[in-house]
Amino acid sequence: MKRSKDWFKDLVIYQIYPRSFMDSNGDGIGDLKGIISRLDYIASLGVNAIWLSPIYESPCYDNGYDISDYQSIDPMYGTFDDFIAFRDGCHERGIAVIMDLVINHTSHMHRWFKASSASRTGEYSDYYIWKDPVDGHEPNNWASCFGGSAWEWCPERGQYYLHLFAKEQPDLNWECEALRNEVFGMIKWWIDNGVDGFRVDAISYMEKYPGFADSPEPPMPDGYSLAMNECSNREGTHRIISCIKQSLLEPASIMSVGEVNCMKLSDYHDYASQSRHEFDMCIPFISPIVEISSWSPLSMKKNIIDTYAELKADGWWARFLSNHDKPRQVSLYGNDREYRKESAKMLASIMHMLPGTPFVFQGEELAMADIRYDSIDDYDDIDTKNVYREMILSGKSEAEALDIAAAVSRDNARTPMQWSAERNAGFSEGTPWLGVNPDYKDVNAEKEIDDPDSVLSFYRDLIHLRRGSECIRRGDLSFQLEDDPYLFVFSRNLGNESYMVIANFSDSRRHCHADVPSCDVIMSNYGRASVSSDMDLEPYEAVIVKVKQ
Ligand code: NOJ
Repeated sequence: MKRSKDWFKDLVIYQIYPRSFMDSNGDGIGDLKGIISRLDYIASLGVNAIWLSPIYESPCYDNGYDISDYQSIDPMYGTFDDFIAFRDGCHERGIAVIMDLVINHTSHMHRWFKASSASRTGEYSDYYIWKDPVDGHEPNNWASCFGGSAWEWCPERGQYYLHLFAKEQPDLNWECEALRNEVFGMIKWWIDNGVDGFRVDAISYMEKYPGFADSPEPPMPDGYSLAMNECSNREGTHRIISCIKQSLLEPASIMSVGEVNCMKLSDYHDYASQSRHEFDMCIPFISPIVEISSWSPLSMKKNIIDTYAELKADGWWARFLSNHDKPRQVSLYGNDREYRKESAKMLASIMHMLPGTPFVFQGEELAMADIRYDSIDDYDDIDTKNVYREMILSGKSEAEALDIAAAVSRDNARTPMQWSAERNAGFSEGTPWLGVNPDYKDVNAEKEIDDPDSVLSFYRDLIHLRRGSECIRRGDLSFQLEDDPYLFVFSRNLGNESYMVIANFSDSRRHCHADVPSCDVIMSNYGRASVSSDMDLEPYEAVIVKVKQ
């Protein structure tokens, strides 16, 4: 594909979670042939990039984020030829291919880890982080973010290894030059195989806390303390990212988006401003537990305003409300009951009208909602099970623990894609690996496709509008009513062109008094024909107008 220097600014990215997208062979797991069969659907949305969550060989303790061979496709997803057919199918449709790059850790089944476990002196001995016991125990108090200690004893080598995620995901040792060269070679290999970009997983933790000192964070119910903050955003990590960017990505105009830990505003700048040569944009990770308990429309608006100011001169933004690690956006930020359609359209209007690159997570365009299973055994996600276990340890009843785990569960986003009202939502002819959301008879692509009022049609129109307007893609942003807790009123301006978005981020009617120039309504989720400086907005109403010049 032909790529200009800042082509990433013109993308609208569709994220596919391959396991749950489309199953072509009836084994209950989505696969590449299934994705290929739906490329026309994806293209019809108007998006011009696909980010594929991992499809590499993996024992799947963390659904592919534990890679055992970076250069093979897992047989459950298909073959390398299927990947090439997918890549070509995307490129023929003008869709760029963005792969997930998981290089903080590998699977414990990776041949590097097997060799590293076997010998303290061999070729791979330093590829991972090994430490001797301290007083017969783990080297420090660090917790894995999936529960328990971040250290696992390896009897074969007689040492502990570090895993900030599951014990099946040992952290790579980025201080080892041979490891660095090997990973750089792998990245180059994928570039040579025609991929256009990378979403780089959990990449804030390459350099660890100096001296592997104990974490000062309060202990979790099992007694260990998360050290993610202490291990985040260290100088050595920034150095390696910049080296990857300058030696591998920039020369080939490969786009990159880093999943990072932004603890302060300047972290956005450090990762996502062009002069730093790190990423083109970043996805700040926020744990669902923190997000659910702390978000509000106002905090979201303030974050948009602050990060806009932080990156305006020299950086770029990833715009998303959903991905495979979060509850569904219509359930978390909107109202998936009486205002499912309205709130889904309102959320999309804000995201797609902001400066930055919008991401659409599969099924979001149908307003797919959270799932609630009856038993913890129906959940698959390693993190959900960990939250449940921690809740039980902290004294909650089984019912209370299930309520909490269900609310934050990553499985909310991972239920099979709802294609039709047929068996298993048209996702698979076999038994899906994760239970289909029972609302699929009402919420599915087939039902939405030809309905001009559907959420899907609204997404298509929004994406079409954005892709056709330089002003929406590249223009400036300015807000009115910055401190209003529920109203989002903002303008996009470029030269003589100007658009405005007026939205009510709440489930009650609200009066909006704003400076609204003479304009034409372009899109509205309530069929509104005109706007004024004084008007009442319906629950979750959103209207997009073009200012008359
Ligand atoms: C972030 C990924 O998005 C998530 O799914 C995964 O569990 C962790 N990184 C570990 O790779």
